[in-house]
Amino acid sequence: TKTMTVASLKKMTADGEKFTMLTAYDATFAQLLSSAGVETLLIGDSLGMVIQGQHSTLPVSVDEMVYHTQAVARGNQGALLVADMPFNSYGTTEQCLATAGKLMQAGAHMVKLEGGDWLCESITAMSRMGIPSCVHMGLTPQSVNKFGGYKVQGRDNDAAQSMIDQALAVANAGADFILLECVPASLAKAITEAVPVPVIGIGAGKDTDAQVLVCYDMLGLTQHRMPKFVKNYMLEHHNYQSAVKAYIDEVKAQTFPAAEHEFD
Ligand code: KIV
Ligand code: NA
Repeated sequence: TKTMTVASLKKMTADGEKFTMLTAYDATFAQLLSSAGVETLLIGDSLGMVIQGQHSTLPVSVDEMVYHTQAVARGNQGALLVADMPFNSYGTTEQCLATAGKLMQAGAHMVKLEGGDWLCESITAMSRMGIPSCVHMGLTPQSVNKFGGYKVQGRDNDAAQSMIDQALAVANAGADFILLECVPASLAKAITEAVPVPVIGIGAGKDTDAQVLVCYDMLGLTQHRMPKFVKNYMLEHHNYQSAVKAYIDEVKAQTFPAAEHEFD
């Protein structure tokens, strides 16, 4: 399989080809997903819920993210590896560089952090240090206690305009990707058109440059009620490889996400 880089993924976006991301937390999944052709793997702090059985992502530590990033890196076949910076590990620029450095040394090629324009100084500092970053905006699960639940973000005009402005600010500060979670499809489209970097969506409609899902959700392994943006590919496919390939094909053909998976 081909080795994905920030540059090759930016080129795909410039050429109008959609790319895919799935979460991976261990070597076996990393091998399965990357060899099927998933371009980017996210070592997500969703592992707090999926692997550890926590009620939110807040309990996940930097050491745990390092452990899972190392495991994913050992199984990976050419995908770009993005590791989440966990809750309370990037509040200052100094702390952000320390955390990001550990994740990069564990095998990540990019780090992801939740927030907006307040991250600009840290993003620029990481950029100078040679650390690519992805800024997660919209529904940022580490802020669930401020939001009062997992709710769609950016629905009113002021919040939508603020998200566009902050997406531009972080891109200008040096962020390489932006990830939008649970925002109206029309807002995700506007942000994707406004910013000069690839935009990855989850619950953000079909017009972003790339899509991401939690692998356990799209493989039908998750037992609790699924959010409306999830599609279980094991309902129509009888092995993991063909389910993952179907996801890739549908993202590229822009048949996933469908209208039923988006918010307005
Ligand atoms: O942790 C995670 O899995 C994520 C994705 C849902 C984007 O951040
Ligand atoms: Na996450």
